Amino acid sequence: MISDEEKDQVRAASDLVAIVQETVELKPRGHEFWGCCPFHGEKTPSFHIIPATQVWHCFGCGEGGDVFTYIMKRENLSFPESIRYLADRAGIELHDTGDRRERGTKRARIYDLCAETAQFYHTMLMRGKDGRPREYFASRGMGGDVCRRYCLGFAPGRNALVSHLSQAGFTPQEMIDANVAVSRGRGQLADRFYDRVMFPIFDEQGHNIAFGGRIMGDGQPKYLNTAETSVFHKKRNLYGFNWAKEFIVAQDTAIVVEGYTDCIACWEAGIKNVVATLGTALTEHHVKTLTRFAKRIVYMFDGDAAGQKAARRAIQFIEQDSMDLRCVVLPDGNDPMEFITAHGGEELQARIDAAEPLMDFVYRSLQESSDITTPGGRAKALEDALTLIYPLRDSYMIDTYFIQIADLLGLDLETVRASSGRVFRDVAKREDAERRREQNYERQRAQAERSGSAGGRASGSRDAGRGAWASGVTPPVSAPVEEEPYDYVPLDAYGAAPVEVVDDLPPIDVPDGMGAVPAADGLGAPAAAAPMVLTDLERKSLAGERELLTMLTSYPDLFRTYADRICSIEWVDPRHESIAWAVLATPPGTDPAACMDAARSVCPEAATLVSAGRISATSKHPTETNIVFMLDTLELYTIKRRMRAAQAKLRQDRSLDDEARRALTVQAAQDSQRQRELQKSIGGVADPFRLIGLEAAGTEQA
Ligand code: UTP
Ligand code: MN
Repeated sequence: MISDEEKDQVRAASDLVAIVQETVELKPRGHEFWGCCPFHGEKTPSFHIIPATQVWHCFGCGEGGDVFTYIMKRENLSFPESIRYLADRAGIELHDTGDRRERGTKRARIYDLCAETAQFYHTMLMRGKDGRPREYFASRGMGGDVCRRYCLGFAPGRNALVSHLSQAGFTPQEMIDANVAVSRGRGQLADRFYDRVMFPIFDEQGHNIAFGGRIMGDGQPKYLNTAETSVFHKKRNLYGFNWAKEFIVAQDTAIVVEGYTDCIACWEAGIKNVVATLGTALTEHHVKTLTRFAKRIVYMFDGDAAGQKAARRAIQFIEQDSMDLRCVVLPDGNDPMEFITAHGGEELQARIDAAEPLMDFVYRSLQESSDITTPGGRAKALEDALTLIYPLRDSYMIDTYFIQIADLLGLDLETVRASSGRVFRDVAKREDAERRREQNYERQRAQAERSGSAGGRASGSRDAGRGAWASGVTPPVSAPVEEEPYDYVPLDAYGAAPVEVVDDLPPIDVPDGMGAVPAADGLGAPAAAAPMVLTDLERKSLAGERELLTMLTSYPDLFRTYADRICSIEWVDPRHESIAWAVLATPPGTDPAACMDAARSVCPEAATLVSAGRISATSKHPTETNIVFMLDTLELYTIKRRMRAAQAKLRQDRSLDDEARRALTVQAAQDSQRQRELQKSIGGVADPFRLIGLEAAGTEQA
């Protein structure tokens, strides 16, 4: 555990504006800084930072928080890791209190264990008495230099690793957690990898987190990879990213290939902005990670059917705005390594430079697969095309895709649009069925795990397996299992299966403008746990509450005189209320940063909540006017909610006695009087909310 003092020390030493500016261009506007959100694609800035309170928020994607939340998102880190990251940056030494069950420490142990393992495998390769792995690499053009550069290795098996790690002080549970050993029952432990050449896999920061092991020669499975662990997620991690990052930034392009060996071959050929997926198709996480560093992604496919399938799946990531997704399909079914061997790196670079937009490729392959000069062929092509763009159905670009398809097939837009409804419905149904089948399959697999059988050993043709993993789809129950005998999700130390998403994120539930998202109650409780249905008024109130909090933390002293008005608000989110009172309880003259600390002390996710207001940035009125406007607005919402509740009670509650009825009616009359006053007062202020987009456009012109 990192102590609160150290956490605060790190926070104080980390200037959010400077950190954001490392990757985002910021412009000052009033007391704030604005820029394009690094977490979703956009052309006009809707991301802002309030330097006084050191909070940030994006009105486009609704994300927000403090410097730790920011680093967690930008660097893909857990909360403790984000503290360590910033501590490193600020040169602060942390003193972990050494709680063994603490996540950061457990992670560090796995990193250490993997590093020790990689070193062991590497020594076995370079100096082991078995010459076959050296010969194997040499026969593929990978000499001693390459083996050293990528820390390649050899797993001899026969529990050599387990005994080595035991001597190095690692426990059996740690070996199992890192998935380099498997339990054989009755306390017996066995090396997970044996008689394979090994490729260590690193995370973005260069920690060794996993391994890929290739059989020398033919056999199944060809590659055995580390299963999901608490530090390794194949849907998130990318092979070679630690090495490629700076080159990806420098060239504003990330090249994605499918294999470890392809990645290494590209690097050796001087193409260094290359990463490989880890036995899955490109996922949304990968795309998000890469687009943080480069605008263009070039997805390179082996020219076989699986490659084509992967290309089609990647369509879902086309978001014209935010990135430029291109593809290269290599001829003759070559993979990049084979292509480099046959034609050289320069020829490959030329193909990369000429990469075509993914959409063009998909449309072209469509034309090639059906004869669009005949009505029947055209109908099939239309169906195929619509099926392909199904993942984009909710995109605001959907009309553009319809137009492209119409042009391609010589149809008119209306025909295409009219057919889309039916085709999309069919695809949705198919996907649903597939999902159910997958769940079924997972259930059966889990059952098999529990009853001790080692899961489906790979069998059947390689292509059947490959198609399945390359497309990222879990095979149906009857299909041969693609990979590894032990590829199951291990239980972590808490006995719960690790979730794929980083699970120690504070809940983020920021309203988008005036349409707020239901708030999670309590700490760390996922917002989805108890679906709350909010009325329109409650949603508006929530958004208003956050507006108020943003101003309150920025201008605490201006608010102190309004404490009694704040009393008249019935808060929808109790967290908001406690933050407000925590801030008001600070002595006069307390600066915004210290007010934030007070807010955080009663509500750890305070930064997320108080960063979501836009009024002080967008309003042209003096702050006092804005404050009164928000107080009026919140009181108005409170009154409206109270009146509505009273009306409902009068209508529905037959047990009310006359006395109670009269009290309710009197209250309602007073409320309605107050409502009129408030409405008048609010109406006298020109709407302080200006559209962010308009405002931004205006600033650019100025
Ligand atoms: P390929 O079959 O294209 O292998 O799988 P490769 O990278 O070209 O390997 P070499 O050159 O034959 O040695 C591409 C990637 O798919 C994953 C691995 O990550 C591999 O690098 N894969 C492949 C598996 O996870 N399991 C398999 O059985 C096969
Ligand atoms: Mn390959």
